[in-house]
Amino acid sequence: MPIPDQPIISPATGKLGVLTVGLGAVSTTLIAGVELARQGLGEPIGSLAQMGTMRVGKRTEGRSPLIRDVVPLATLDDIVFGAWDPYPDDAYTSATRAGVLEQTKHLEPVAEALRAVRPMAAAFDPHYVKRLDGPNVKDKTSKRAMLEGIREDIGRFRDENLCDRMVMMWCGSTEIFLEPGAAHTDIESFEKAIDANDPTIAPSMLYAYAALQEGIPFANGAPNLTVDTPVLRKFASDNKVPISGKDFKTGQTLLKTVLAPMFKARMLGVAGWYSTNILGNRDGEVLDDPESFKTKEESKLGVLEHILQPELYPQLYGDMYHKVRINYYPPRGDNKEGWDNIDIVGWLGYPMQMKVDFLCRDSILAAPLALDLVLFSDLANRCGMGGIQEWLSFYYKSPQVLPGLYPEHDLFIQLTKLKNTLRWMIGEEQITHLGLDYEIEG
Ligand SMILES: NC(=O)c1ccc[n+]([C@@H]2O[C@H](COP(=O)([O-])OP(=O)(O)OC[C@H]3O[C@@H](n4cnc5c(N)ncnc54)[C@H](O)[C@@H]3O)[C@@H](O)[C@H]2O)c1
Repeated sequence: MPIPDQPIISPATGKLGVLTVGLGAVSTTLIAGVELARQGLGEPIGSLAQMGTMRVGKRTEGRSPLIRDVVPLATLDDIVFGAWDPYPDDAYTSATRAGVLEQTKHLEPVAEALRAVRPMAAAFDPHYVKRLDGPNVKDKTSKRAMLEGIREDIGRFRDENLCDRMVMMWCGSTEIFLEPGAAHTDIESFEKAIDANDPTIAPSMLYAYAALQEGIPFANGAPNLTVDTPVLRKFASDNKVPISGKDFKTGQTLLKTVLAPMFKARMLGVAGWYSTNILGNRDGEVLDDPESFKTKEESKLGVLEHILQPELYPQLYGDMYHKVRINYYPPRGDNKEGWDNIDIVGWLGYPMQMKVDFLCRDSILAAPLALDLVLFSDLANRCGMGGIQEWLSFYYKSPQVLPGLYPEHDLFIQLTKLKNTLRWMIGEEQITHLGLDYEIEG
């Protein structure tokens, strides 16, 4: 199939409203970081959209501009934040509680901006997140009323902040495990299920549906089912609204999607991969509930199967044992520690081991991904690209893909896809790395 014509990109004029569902560790770290960067008090390290370059043209041309200099992204100054959360704390109080950023160095200088972000009442039901039960909630007896309430909030936020465009991102807790079912097949069933308060309609689906109805791109930072259902995929593509998800690829899974392609590239076998984590933030507390953990576990486990392709390499990966554990351990707060033990098999079947101990900071890794997803989802919207944005797989543990396609998990294939999509958007040639068209005099 020929490559589609370059899209017409409408300009990024005016304000970009960013609504986060959840005003916890990730979203407050994002909001504070954007505010600090705006004021020149911090660098947006980890953000490809802000710091990344992209080669355009041939290697001999020496052109590697900053992505944001050649791709018409919204600027950080354009962004205005809003949020929902069942706890009434403003972003300053919530960030203080999360304990990710240093109080004096990084919270006090932007305290006023953070205090201005006060969460709207959440469409929340503790059935879906067992360990939480905050008071700042909408009436939870009717899903229809929750949906309408979210749409009203969006409209009010848009008017009060004079937003030209908006993006919504799920930075809320991980909901219990749900699979696509009868309620998620088409719009009639979905609408009926909302009216019937069907338990398979989770709050995250109501936020996503409200966003799509309002023409607002939706990105899902958690592993919840949310927009990954036939009904919302179709609704998004029919109405030309970008969607993407699921689950920010930040720590252990990021490493997996770099190491596993290396083993496969070298045809090294993997007998076992044992991953364990300790973390002590609210996310860790929520994931301590078996039903929320199951959602996360599925998301973390899927990666290796797809990368290693045991069906193609049964001798190397056919009997691999893969285990993932997450343990809630309060003393560490947001500073997660992820251990991996990998049992590798080499020439003639000789065993080797690799151990990785990643002492990371969960929200410090997640915030730049959230920023990029905001900016790129808005870009996709301005390009008229509706439905699943597979080129944003780079950011996710469980990338959403069209039915019938397998997800691409290898980080560097994902990066190539992302950059080639940007090149296509701005009318630059695709880079295939074939390299046979160079004629360099020796
Ligand atoms: N930090 C990371 O590295 C990382 C990586 C991948 C995924 N995630 C996911 O991102 C999400 C956010 O992580 P976090 O560390 O900020 O968690 P957090 O617990 O600090 O914040 C989540 C917030 O969402 C709120 N919330 C829950 N249900 C809600 C609802 N229905 N409506 C509105 N708000 C709701 C909670 O009250 C909480 O304040 C989690 O699902 C987590 O699993 C985080």
